[in-house]
Amino acid sequence: MQNGIAVLDFGGQYAHLIANRVRRLRVYSEVFRPDVDATAVNGYSGLILSGGPASVYDPDQPAFNRAHLKTGLPVLGLCYGHQLVCRELGGEVARGDIREYGSAELRIQSTTGLFAGMESSQVVWMSHGDVVGRLPEGFEVLGATEDCATAAVGDARRNVYGLQFHPEVAHTARGMDILDNFLNICKAPRTWTMANYVETATKEIQERVGRKRVFLLVSGGVDSSVAFALFNRAIGPERVLGLHINNGFMRKGESAEVSDALTSEGFENLIVEDATQAFLLSTEGVVEPEEKRLAVGRAFLEVKDRVLARMELDSDGWLLGQGTLYPDTIESGGTEHAAVIKTHHNRVDAVEELIARGLVIEPLAHLYKDEVRELGIALGLPPHLIWRQPFPGPGLSVRCLCSRGDGADTPQAEAEEAARDIAVRAGLGLRLLPLKSVGVQGDFRTYAHPAVVWGEANWEVLEDVSTRVTNAVSAINRVVYLLAPSALPELKLKRAFLTQSRLDLLRAVDALAMAALEREGLSKTVSQMPTVLLPLTSDGVAETVVLRPVETPDFMTARFSALPFDFVRKLAREILDVGGVEAVFYDVTHKPPGTVEWE
Ligand code: XMP
Repeated sequence: MQNGIAVLDFGGQYAHLIANRVRRLRVYSEVFRPDVDATAVNGYSGLILSGGPASVYDPDQPAFNRAHLKTGLPVLGLCYGHQLVCRELGGEVARGDIREYGSAELRIQSTTGLFAGMESSQVVWMSHGDVVGRLPEGFEVLGATEDCATAAVGDARRNVYGLQFHPEVAHTARGMDILDNFLNICKAPRTWTMANYVETATKEIQERVGRKRVFLLVSGGVDSSVAFALFNRAIGPERVLGLHINNGFMRKGESAEVSDALTSEGFENLIVEDATQAFLLSTEGVVEPEEKRLAVGRAFLEVKDRVLARMELDSDGWLLGQGTLYPDTIESGGTEHAAVIKTHHNRVDAVEELIARGLVIEPLAHLYKDEVRELGIALGLPPHLIWRQPFPGPGLSVRCLCSRGDGADTPQAEAEEAARDIAVRAGLGLRLLPLKSVGVQGDFRTYAHPAVVWGEANWEVLEDVSTRVTNAVSAINRVVYLLAPSALPELKLKRAFLTQSRLDLLRAVDALAMAALEREGLSKTVSQMPTVLLPLTSDGVAETVVLRPVETPDFMTARFSALPFDFVRKLAREILDVGGVEAVFYDVTHKPPGTVEWE
């Protein structure tokens, strides 16, 4: 792919968003390591250097290939990238007297160039401690905030610019316009459209696959459906085989729906394999979330190999196709400076091994959910396939929490005490739950206790309490609100594993919740609503359910959904009526500090 913008990733939280935003402005963009050979960006129109957690003076800062600043391409440095550019070109960076986080007002010197067409005062989003002190020769200040005199700098002759703030985040009000102006400075061709991408991806797939064939695991979600359609288009249905595996962790009736939906679109090269028992066996007795994810990921490959062998297909002649997206990679710790938050099913060790041997092809790996949906539209897939709520590969297995019931997860009394003080000030009761869920805090994985709160409240109060509690008490990474019954039962942890009957109970509750969302016309408001089964009980038999509706454009960060109270209370009562459930909670945690899924 040529003539776009190359983004050098220094490990910042938002590095991946830059490429997405540039593509939204119809210019191709790809992310590279900062030490990549300068020839890799040959033909690109400009470079953007991302932010990152390091300081330019850290001994272990990410390695940077200085040749990138000598290519003569226009350069835009953001945050860490801005400081690095200034220092490399002869300026100086120092620790700031004041650290700036969040919103700031930028006063612009000249509304031309990077700031063409803008008001002289702008709201921008900051997150930094270091600041550029002395500018490199030829540079001038283009904008400043109260606490940062060098918030926007540049040398218009060399077309090198640096911004201390983040134009790529939604909170920088005119961020997209600033990026747009940079693309004009780069004279980057505005040729990136999904229709063009289909052509480029088609050529890339043809080259990569050569004379081989592609065997694709099709869950029926938007990613794998789009990847399947793309492979079919690129190399023809006779060289593609889709395999839908019913792993027993699917939603009610979902496997049948998936195969009906794809066959009615004319895809005849899809086979369906019922492997419920194999998956139950491979996850038998497993409690720890990462262990569960690895077991599920490996089982997918075992079933795939079994099917290949049964069909007497020579596995050497096939590549494994996957619909992996960028966030799957980054959250699995797959970029150089990122931590493992959770291992996605398409990133377990056995898949990594295949990748290392060059046997995996992932045509969507640089895209985000919003782009994949657009690609699906360009490929002519029907709306009901494109707008399905995402469903994780390991499915209900990571929504059915398990326990040995041995009390190993007893929460600390002091943590509960500290959190209760915060809740009581808002008129709420609070208890810690004796199990743990996965969260993401400060770019790292956490595995900590949820707190349950109860009492009269509205969503604002619950959001406030949830944020305060998770900020103040490190032993807590999630807060849920009691919807039903009216008083919290004396819940204890019970011994429970992934069994057919627990999965069936969760499937029934999930089906009820999904139908209710659909009925109320809320399916599009909510980006995704997992229902989670917790082995918490007062009578040793019945369990607890959590509703986890979230709103998010890209699933990297998310807000809990504030659904109408009457609706959720009614739904909670209906869930109790299913039988086998004695309490219903509503997750009031954003991501971060919680993740969307509990495991
Ligand atoms: P988290 O829980 O990490 O979820 O906030 C973000 C999004 O990713 C989905 N997810 C997965 N998708 N394989 C997938 O295909 C997986 O292993 C996996 N784990 C989480 C999750 O449902 C949400 O949409």
